[in-house]
Amino acid sequence: MEIALYHPEHGYYESNRAAVGQRGDFYTSVSVGELFGQLLAFQFAGWLDELGTRNAERGTADAPLQIVEAGAHDGQLAEDILLWLRKRRPDLLERVEYWLLDPSPRRQEWQRERLSIFAPRVKWFANWGEVQQAGGVTGVIFANELLDALPVHRLAWSGAEQRWFEWGVRTIGERFMWTRLPELHANVAVLAQPSAALGGLDESLRESSWVSLAPVLPDGFILERMPFAEFWWSIAAQSLRHGKLMTFDYGHTSGDAINPSKPHGTLRAYRDHQLVDDILAVPGTQDITAHVNFAAVTHAGARAGLATVELTEQSRFLTRIAQRTMQQPAGFGEWPRERVRQFQTLTHPDHLGRSFSALVQERC
Ligand SMILES: C[S@@+](CC[C@H](N)C(=O)[O-])C[C@H]1O[C@@H](n2cnc3c(N)ncnc32)[C@H](O)[C@@H]1O
Repeated sequence: MEIALYHPEHGYYESNRAAVGQRGDFYTSVSVGELFGQLLAFQFAGWLDELGTRNAERGTADAPLQIVEAGAHDGQLAEDILLWLRKRRPDLLERVEYWLLDPSPRRQEWQRERLSIFAPRVKWFANWGEVQQAGGVTGVIFANELLDALPVHRLAWSGAEQRWFEWGVRTIGERFMWTRLPELHANVAVLAQPSAALGGLDESLRESSWVSLAPVLPDGFILERMPFAEFWWSIAAQSLRHGKLMTFDYGHTSGDAINPSKPHGTLRAYRDHQLVDDILAVPGTQDITAHVNFAAVTHAGARAGLATVELTEQSRFLTRIAQRTMQQPAGFGEWPRERVRQFQTLTHPDHLGRSFSALVQERC
């Protein structure tokens, strides 16, 4: 998954600038239009104002504030947020730096092109080490649909052996095939311990009532584990000095990662807005993604000292912001028909409303 998506030359996200949106392979909230970014900008401005007040109480009123976006792809969301801040909160934009975190020089280049008019306020970082060297973050760190695009381990339950094994990928001639690995990768090897399915699972799953079902799971039951996403989130949390860490994504929100009635896992591929049958068919030309395990991600943040503000449906999160904008029309602007249309697409259960969740954690 890592090579298929991120190989410097052939990786899907390296070679597909237009991956997201109508001309691409899948929609995100960003491709619906500028409203998503405008609502986020309004919310972030509120959080940054609160932080500014708290900084003043701490005697650090002039301390710089940051908005950090990870996984910005072509920079569209950053542009929507920055344009709104410039128009509606120029006072705040004067005090805020927009940091983009992206390991890929090519994607950074796409983002630089798009955001050139904001040049002095925007900075790029390749990894969390660089962010920490710059002093960490006081402000807001966020990502939209990043965690679901990080590589996963694909485990399967062997009913006969009463243990988990791992599916890997090998080549046969010109084709890629699933193959049973002789050993579990160290990242997930804890699952193989003799206490069978129960003892080795991480805290989030152990707490789940589904775990007691593990020994009676159907043979071949698939469970993805995402140590990269959990690791990513915990480093993000460690890099946050004060403020909020948040993500929008789709995934399991309540210990439902092990559900015997859904035995095939969530790993899937998209091309031209269609689900692709064979995930391995044409790597580099299709998106590959899996559900985020929000319980595990939330634990990773908590272990790094963050408090959980909320884990809620994206539609609810956005609706609350929209309600507040209507109480302050001078601050946000009117709601013409086009804005209403975008809002409906973002929140309606038949569009993006049902499937996405928002997780917010904080360090005061
Ligand atoms: C599904 S796209 C989402 C794009 C955009 N956020 C949106 O909502 O339209 C995920 C993006 O995250 C980028 N990405 C992958 N790994 C990353 C990492 N470790 N740090 C930052 N960005 C990463 C991918 O290359 C891709 O551009």
